[in-house]
Amino acid sequence: PIESWVAVPSSWPEGSAVNVTLGCIERDRCQDSPCRERGKCVNLWLDYQCECQRPFEGLDCSEEYVSGRFGHTELDSYAVFMVSDNLTEDFEVSMFVRTRQQRGPLLILANRTSQHLGLWLEDGKVKVQAGHLEKLTAQLTISDGTFHLVSVRIKQGRMALFQSTRKQGEVACGPLQVQPGDRAYLGGLAERHATVSLGGYFKGCLQDVRVNGRRLQFYPLSSTVSSYSLEHLVNVARGCTGDNACRNNPCQNGGVCHPMWDDFTCSCPPSTTGRHCEEVRWCELSPCPSSATCQPIAHGFDCFSNATFDDDSNIMFYKSNGKITRNLSSISFSIRTRKRDSAILHAEKGQQFVTISIQDSHLLMELLTGHDSTKLSLNSQVPISDGKWHSAEFSMVSPSSLSSAWVAVLDDVRSPSSSITTGNLDFLKENVDILLGGFGPDVGGNLVGCLSTVKIGGIPLSYYSSSELSASRTQEEQFIKMSPDEALIGCSGTSVCSPSPCLYGGTCLDLFNLFNCSCPAGWTGPRCELNTDTCASGPCIHGNCSILLPEYEYRCDCQAGYTGTNCEAPLDTCLTHQCGPGATCLKGINSYSCLCPENSTGLPVSVCGNELSNYTCFNGGNCSDSSTTMCECQSGFTGHRWESYIIYY
Ligand SMILES: *[C@@H]1O[C@H](CO)[C@@H](O)[C@H](O)[C@H]1NC(C)=O
Ligand SMILES: *[C@@H]1O[C@H](CO)[C@@H](O)[C@H](O)[C@H]1NC(C)=O
Ligand SMILES: *[C@@H]1O[C@H](CO)[C@@H](O)[C@H](O)[C@H]1NC(C)=O
Ligand SMILES: *[C@@H]1O[C@H](CO)[C@@H](O)[C@H](O)[C@H]1NC(C)=O
Ligand SMILES: *[C@@H]1O[C@H](CO)[C@@H](O)[C@H](O)[C@H]1NC(C)=O
Ligand SMILES: *[C@@H]1O[C@H](CO)[C@@H](O)[C@H](O)[C@H]1NC(C)=O
Ligand SMILES: *[C@@H]1O[C@H](CO)[C@@H](O)[C@H](O)[C@H]1NC(C)=O
Ligand SMILES: *[C@@H]1O[C@H](CO)[C@@H](O)[C@H](O)[C@H]1NC(C)=O
Ligand SMILES: *[C@@H]1O[C@H](CO)[C@@H](O)[C@H](O)[C@H]1NC(C)=O
Ligand SMILES: *[C@@H]1O[C@H](CO)[C@@H](O)[C@H](O)[C@H]1NC(C)=O
Repeated sequence: PIESWVAVPSSWPEGSAVNVTLGCIERDRCQDSPCRERGKCVNLWLDYQCECQRPFEGLDCSEEYVSGRFGHTELDSYAVFMVSDNLTEDFEVSMFVRTRQQRGPLLILANRTSQHLGLWLEDGKVKVQAGHLEKLTAQLTISDGTFHLVSVRIKQGRMALFQSTRKQGEVACGPLQVQPGDRAYLGGLAERHATVSLGGYFKGCLQDVRVNGRRLQFYPLSSTVSSYSLEHLVNVARGCTGDNACRNNPCQNGGVCHPMWDDFTCSCPPSTTGRHCEEVRWCELSPCPSSATCQPIAHGFDCFSNATFDDDSNIMFYKSNGKITRNLSSISFSIRTRKRDSAILHAEKGQQFVTISIQDSHLLMELLTGHDSTKLSLNSQVPISDGKWHSAEFSMVSPSSLSSAWVAVLDDVRSPSSSITTGNLDFLKENVDILLGGFGPDVGGNLVGCLSTVKIGGIPLSYYSSSELSASRTQEEQFIKMSPDEALIGCSGTSVCSPSPCLYGGTCLDLFNLFNCSCPAGWTGPRCELNTDTCASGPCIHGNCSILLPEYEYRCDCQAGYTGTNCEAPLDTCLTHQCGPGATCLKGINSYSCLCPENSTGLPVSVCGNELSNYTCFNGGNCSDSSTTMCECQSGFTGHRWESYIIYY
């Protein structure tokens, strides 16, 4: 029955009113929630109206626009609608989008020759372009597998992009010239080629697409709503079921796959990680010897340690495994040494070579690569031969260039870039020996000290061969240790303190390839070999002793008539004697005498006083040449010195 009302007189004749009740009872038509949760009910007193939320439709909002599933099971899919009105100044395009794709077209309004409006995904964000100029990019990504309402509003010469109610951006734009007969393409174009250039066909769902008030329906509802007519529907399925991303079990290493809409997650077993459980956490499996530190590196692991080099130890040598693809544009290591000149690393191939050495306590890299005729030399600014650890890295300033300056970073201090530019170290990828610790057998200049694991282009030159590990390295790119000898793992200096070089009970301090003696009192010098009281033992026999600094040597000042370091030798008075031929010189203190040959007739001269010697008698005795005793002694004294000789001159 049609409910209505008319104004009637307050009393009417009997029987003239049938099924009419007195009064005016109002009932809230929205009381029963006829629009359910899908729309807003408007009470019209005798009726109601549902203002349906998108994507619902119908009198009671009981219908829902049917999603179009694009790219199901990786099919190329698209839909084409025919535009039936003029769109110029103000209009709006909107749709629900559900996807996990990062790229691909959503909607394109175009005629046969040009594109009016394009809406597509880039990096998971919506981009929109009107004509060929004005472009807008959303701030938020939508590629999260849930529905997002995307709308573009063109109004009064400005274009704005919205996601739900949040404005993503706005830009000025000129009027569009969409005419009846133009097309709206959804999910891609008929031409595969053109679609690929837009990022490939869309994969996901589109629902409730509208251009102004017009619907673009893939599977039309029974309600009659103003729509553009569908021209082509290619591989667009009804609904929005996800692909079974677990079908070809994408989880590796025993991971368990959990499907999600158009996606999957892997529950990874212990020691594996990554989206596909593809990364094994090798180090948790302890593949390295206990002396090494395991470190994960891309697609594998390696064992890092320091090694000690001494003059006698063999030089290590390495080769690329032939599978290195990255550019080799750096060398890094840490070093500890006291050598002022030494080899560290060397490799050569034909004319090309790289050498890292210590020269005059400074690190030096020399490099000549295939592209260049000039050798690059790069010097660390600071000396390093102090027995402390120093970290060093030589690297190309612009590693992706064919040729570039190089720079050295020593203990985090950057040197100025080299003035010469040169290529990278890619010749080391080939069949080239890389020597560590020396330039070659019998060349000399070997390293004495410690070296960390060297890295070339980030790839380690491990001190362990694969037979020393309990698991194989899985990374493609490797430098392999070719020298058969085991490295001296760890860092130890030569045993400078045993046996102790310090004398007289000095204590030896090991300062890494250098010792320091702390000496007991009275002793000094590098080995405590110097007595600070060198006169204590009375070394000067006939002289005075004094100490000479800084070496704590002593000096003897001899008494008259003595000579020698310790004044031990009487002066040889006969050295300049004037005895006649055949005579024998007899030494005396400060004097000499001549012993003439038998029967020679030298004139007796005064021994007591001549130009060669003067004889002094002790204790006041008078010297007398005539006296047989030479001395005429004072009373109480006796004695003589030249008893048995007749003195001649
Ligand atoms: C009055 O209403 C009743 C119930 O709705 C119906 O059966 C009857 O036919 C109506 N009378 C007339 C005259 O329309
Ligand atoms: C579109 O615009 C043209 C020219 O302005 C007019 O002739 C035509 O009738 C319009 N078409 C519709 C469907 O509005
Ligand atoms: C297509 O649109 C452009 C501008 O929007 C217009 O200049 C051109 O004439 C149109 N081409 C056809 C074939 O309708
Ligand atoms: C090498 O020695 C340095 C200094 O003692 C130390 O910090 C570092 O951990 C060592 N490296 C390895 C891999 O043992
Ligand atoms: C490697 O070096 C070449 C030039 O030698 C360069 O063209 C290329 O971009 C570099 N690759 C990388 C990843 O840097
Ligand atoms: C060596 O020892 C001396 C004194 O015993 C001390 O003055 C000096 O500083 C020490 N040198 C070092 C490097 O420790
Ligand atoms: C030795 O020392 C004493 C006392 O100081 C001094 O009289 C004497 O002249 C010195 N002798 C010499 C050879 O210097
Ligand atoms: C020394 O003189 C004596 C006596 O005049 C004589 O007998 C003796 O042979 C002489 N001796 C020599 C070596 O001339
Ligand atoms: C010994 O004394 C005399 C006189 O006093 C003097 O002429 C002479 O030169 C002295 N001889 C020596 C060797 O000193
Ligand atoms: C030594 O000579 C002096 C003077 O010539 C004399 O007076 C003195 O008595 C002499 N002494 C002796 C012990 O002959």
